[in-house]
Amino acid sequence: MSLDQSLKKILIIDFGSQFTQLIARRIRELGVFSEIVSHKKIKNKNINNSIKGIILSGGPLNVYEIKRYSFDRKIIQNGIPVLGICFGHQILSKLNGGRVKQSKHREFGLANIYKKNDSLLTYNFFKKKNSLKVWMSHADQVSKIPKNFKVIASSQNSKFAIVENKLKNFYGVQFHPEVTHTENGKKLISNFIFKICKIKKNWSSKDQKIKLIKEVRDQVGNNKVICALSGGVDSSVVAQLLNKAIGKKLYCIFVNTGLLRKNEEKQVIETFKKKLKINIIYVNAEKEFLIRLTNISDPEKKRKIIGNLFIKIFERYAKRIKNVKYLAQGTLYPDLIESKSVTGSQTSKIKSHHNVGGLPKNMKLKLVEPLKFLFKDEVRKLGLELNLNKEIISRHPFPGPGLAIRMPGIITKEKINILKEADYYFIKALKEEGLYDKIWQAYAALLPVKTVGVMGDNRTYEYLCLLRAITSEDGMTADFYEFKKSFSQMISNKIVNSIRGINRVVYDITSKPPSTIELE
Ligand code: XMP
Repeated sequence: MSLDQSLKKILIIDFGSQFTQLIARRIRELGVFSEIVSHKKIKNKNINNSIKGIILSGGPLNVYEIKRYSFDRKIIQNGIPVLGICFGHQILSKLNGGRVKQSKHREFGLANIYKKNDSLLTYNFFKKKNSLKVWMSHADQVSKIPKNFKVIASSQNSKFAIVENKLKNFYGVQFHPEVTHTENGKKLISNFIFKICKIKKNWSSKDQKIKLIKEVRDQVGNNKVICALSGGVDSSVVAQLLNKAIGKKLYCIFVNTGLLRKNEEKQVIETFKKKLKINIIYVNAEKEFLIRLTNISDPEKKRKIIGNLFIKIFERYAKRIKNVKYLAQGTLYPDLIESKSVTGSQTSKIKSHHNVGGLPKNMKLKLVEPLKFLFKDEVRKLGLELNLNKEIISRHPFPGPGLAIRMPGIITKEKINILKEADYYFIKALKEEGLYDKIWQAYAALLPVKTVGVMGDNRTYEYLCLLRAITSEDGMTADFYEFKKSFSQMISNKIVNSIRGINRVVYDITSKPPSTIELE
């Protein structure tokens, strides 16, 4: 393994925590470059002058399972400042002669820590208070700190919640400063990197762009790549990134599944083919999708059918282009977390997100997923850096299976047309009222129930339209958006009066969890 020496960096040594990428994200937000390496691969000979600080991540291991974390202890003997987080804190103590044992009281969730001593690490961290709420997630804990270590803060169950050895520049925290639940956690990370490691800002969206372009070039070399362009934020950013990286070796395939939003296919071709001059192939597969989905109402079946047909179409076109080796996808970090456990321990599967879980096992193309360690807001910043216009960048997320999963029950052409109209009026109204950018995602759905209404003097018996609008940070949790009565009234009138087939509008007021954002 060799580490890039061109940029000063914080090295994050990963012991398998689901939060490791969040540590990297916080450091990026602070404008500093960082690199994540596995504890199994990094050896002392790989350490070079570009490393200004080391963070040991959390993880599911136990410090006494020496074999499972074959960590080269010489790495922390080079005089480079070290911050251990959770398991990282325990291993740092253990390697310096402290003791770790199973705690009587496991701590999962919020806990109060109390300030005991001052430290550079906690400069302005407690603000003017003596106690803060932090996010704990551990069963073991440090039971005796090494010689020359000092307690900086304690919680009720963890006496050694923050410790330091100022002389050696070793710091340990039992909690997770990288998660947003920890009050002021970013300040603690900022103190470590700027005050203790003394690294200067060296990282921006522009640097991110340059690095990702280089990585794509290194990965695919001279080979051809196809990209599933949907017109959504993620695939648009991937397409433009690859366009900059490999130009005409990129072949974007835009599949019109017939399950897209109104006029979407026209807009995508206009933007990507005409304005951005990206190599793009338009496939009208409307009929093929509709036939395969006939009489299918089970949500997972719909997702699998759509996901598999997508891939089949890519492979079909890839063959026509000849010698395609790679398929590029806009997978983001939260997609990876939700579809499989990042630490390798199995979590329960919620839905088959078709850009991750639904890929057939025998797929012949290799994957290029340049955004897989980024979060949505970082992808948007990257998109702006790549000169994509704000309209594309600020688009609400749209799922791969499209309108199919916003139409519980069977799918028909008639229902699709009704739904396209309802969604169009809803989104248009949000834009006109200046609400679109305040909402993380909004859409209309068509429920497979008909209800009675009265229009003029006539009885109607038509479909129920459900509107959903949520606020969220990353789609993993969400709350419903609270509209004013005037807006609700206006949009309900507009939909019922303009669209034949809908005579009632309801609003979804559930959060995620317990619901999910999409209906299926
Ligand atoms: P859920 O419904 O799981 O959705 O709460 C979370 C976010 O993911 C989007 N989503 C998908 N995106 N392929 C995608 O590319 C999919 O199969 C898929 N399913 C859900 C959803 O729109 C929301 O933003």
